[in-house]
Amino acid sequence: MVKNTPQQTENETTVRATAPSNIALIKYWGKSDATLNWPANDSISMTLSRARTITSATIRSNAPAENCHRLAFRTSATKSIAVRDQEKTTRFLEWLRREIKPYGSAEGALDLLTYNSFPSSCGIASSASGFAALTVAATAAWTGTKNFAELHDLGISRAHLSDWARRGSGSACRSIHGGFVQWERGHSPNTQKINPVFSVEHWPLTDLIVLIDRGAKSTSSTEGHARAFTSPLMNVRLSGLGERLKNCAQAIEGRDLERLGTIIEAESIEMHAVMMTSNPRTDYFGSATINFISWLRKSRAKGEFSAWFTLDAGPNPHVLCRPEDAAAVKATILQNFPSSSVIHDQTGSGAILESEQNFGEFIPGGFDGH
Ligand code: PMV
Repeated sequence: MVKNTPQQTENETTVRATAPSNIALIKYWGKSDATLNWPANDSISMTLSRARTITSATIRSNAPAENCHRLAFRTSATKSIAVRDQEKTTRFLEWLRREIKPYGSAEGALDLLTYNSFPSSCGIASSASGFAALTVAATAAWTGTKNFAELHDLGISRAHLSDWARRGSGSACRSIHGGFVQWERGHSPNTQKINPVFSVEHWPLTDLIVLIDRGAKSTSSTEGHARAFTSPLMNVRLSGLGERLKNCAQAIEGRDLERLGTIIEAESIEMHAVMMTSNPRTDYFGSATINFISWLRKSRAKGEFSAWFTLDAGPNPHVLCRPEDAAAVKATILQNFPSSSVIHDQTGSGAILESEQNFGEFIPGGFDGH
C-alpha cells in the first residue's frame, strides 16, 4: 500500500497528490490560442474516480540550478523510466514555479515520481490526470503545504490549481474539480472559467471504459487540436455547440440519462467527423470501434439495456449507464467482446492532497482487467 505520509529528511520533503481522469461529454477540440490553451469552445465533463494518476514530489532544497527537475514514470513496484515528454513537462514546471512564487518560496528542484492506476496507451486521457496531479504535487512541494486547507490559507484555491493545470494540458483543468465540470472559454484567454456545475452526489453515473483496441494513439491531441480548423466541418460544429451544451447541462440537471446519452453520442461522432475531415486527417478509431458502436446501438434499440457511448481521442468507448445497471451491462459487453476488458469507473470527486490519504495498491499497467 502506498500512503501519502509526508516524509521529511534534513533537506527533503515529499508530498503526494492524486488526480482522476475525466470524460468530456461536450468535447474540447481545437484551440483559439495554442500557447495559452484557450479552447475554441466551452466543454463539460464528468470527473472519474478510479482512473487516476498518483504523483509524489520531493523538493531538493539544496539543488541550486534551474531546470534540473527529475521526472520518472513508475512501471512496476520497483522500476521506473524517464517521463516521455521531459521537455514539455520541464517547461511547464518552470512556468508553474513563476506562478507559485508570490505564494511561497518555490525554491529548489523537484524529484517527481508518477504512475497511473490504469494501463498506458489505453485511450484514457492520461494527460488530464497527469498534469492535474503534477500541478497539485508541485504546488504543495514548493509551498510546503500538505493539504487543500493549507493551500487555501496561502490564497491558493482549486480555481488557481485548475487554471495552472490547464496550461499543462487543457483537459487537466477539469480534473481538479469533482462531479460535472464546465470549462468556459470566456471572451479572452484571461477570462476563461472552470466551474464545478453539479456535484458527485447530484448524479453518480457509471462509466465503463471498454478496452477493445490497445494500440498507441496515432496522433497526439496537441497535433489534432492544431488541425481542427482545417476541417470544413469545424465552423458548422462551433455554431451548434452553444445549444448542445445548454441541452447537456439541462439533461444532467434533470438526471435524464436518455437525453444525455443521445447528446453525447452525437457530440463524440461530430468531433470525430472533424478529426477525419481535417488536413491531414486523423483517424482515432477503426473497425473494432465501429463494430462496438453499432452493436451497442442495436442492443439498446432492442431494449437489452440503457447505455450510451462517448469517445475521446482514441478507439476505446466510454459507456455511460446507471450504477444499478452497470454489472449487467458490463457482463453483456464482455460476453459479446470476450477479448476486451472493462475499467469500471464512476463519477468522482477530483484531485486529492491529504496527509493520511490511502492511494491504493500499485498495479503496474494493470487495473482490474475484467
Ligand atoms: O487536453 P488535451 O490537449 O489532451 O485534449 C483533450 C481532448 C479530448 O480528450 C478529445 C476532449 C476533451 O475535452 O477532453
